[in-house]
Amino acid sequence: MTSAPSAAQTGNGGPATEEFPDHIAIIMDGNGRWANGRGLPRAVGHERGVEALRRTVEAAQEIGLKTLTVYSFSTENWRRPVSEVNALFGLLKAYVKRDLNRLAQEGVKIRILGTRQGLPDDILELVKRAEDRTADNDAFNLCIAFNYGGREEVLRAAKAMASAVEEGRTSASEVDEAAFSEFLDTGGLPDPDILIRTSGEYRLSNFLIWQAAYAELVFMDVLWPDFGKHHLLEAVETYRKRERRFGGLSSGAA
Ligand code: IPE
Ligand code: IPE
Ligand code: MG
Repeated sequence: MTSAPSAAQTGNGGPATEEFPDHIAIIMDGNGRWANGRGLPRAVGHERGVEALRRTVEAAQEIGLKTLTVYSFSTENWRRPVSEVNALFGLLKAYVKRDLNRLAQEGVKIRILGTRQGLPDDILELVKRAEDRTADNDAFNLCIAFNYGGREEVLRAAKAMASAVEEGRTSASEVDEAAFSEFLDTGGLPDPDILIRTSGEYRLSNFLIWQAAYAELVFMDVLWPDFGKHHLLEAVETYRKRERRFGGLSSGAA
């Protein structure tokens, strides 16, 4: 190999993956700071965040991605003032109401990750409508993590697995990682290849803690409302220059 990317780009000097990702997950962070910086209410930042989401879903389809998962409300976000929680719920509703028809026609399959517990009835109805309406689509997967926490998801999956064992549908000794994954909200989907977090924070905040075990982490300084197609492409380029080893040796080192 004569033109290996620089060590700074790959992080290890090994050969780049060069592959195109199937699945990108995004922690859409920085709406509040975007608004604060402009002297605007946080809710305006969230509104602009929905526009960024719309752009990003479109960009993800255009660049040929198969699955996009976005973190839109965490189980910890209930700690925010009730007015902000309500604004975030309202925005999810508005997004689904406005975009569902178009997404359904484009062949997008929508899945909402997270617990349904604690969600108001109108949101539950909309979630069901979005999932039912797009259940047979397979051109693109859009997963919206809403009322989602990684630990809650793993715990719920463990309970579902325990019930399956109790009911004799499986046995504890049969459950391996692949079988357990099927109990998660992402059952049937591949793990994310790339996990992007915007806004310059360096943590997972309880997002996809099982699924992101080997995701390439890409932290970007951009605040979410400013995110666009070129940021998505930049993340893909960063990923393609990285070498994924999955615990093995560099392909050049054997
Ligand atoms: C992300 O933006 C949206 C949600 C967490 C719901 P934030 O609201 O966290 O924005 P910052 O981090 O305060 O800037
Ligand atoms: C993570 O962002 C949750 C979402 C983007 C929905 P937060 O802003 O809630 O995370 P922390 O509090 O900074 O860890
Ligand atoms: Mg935040």
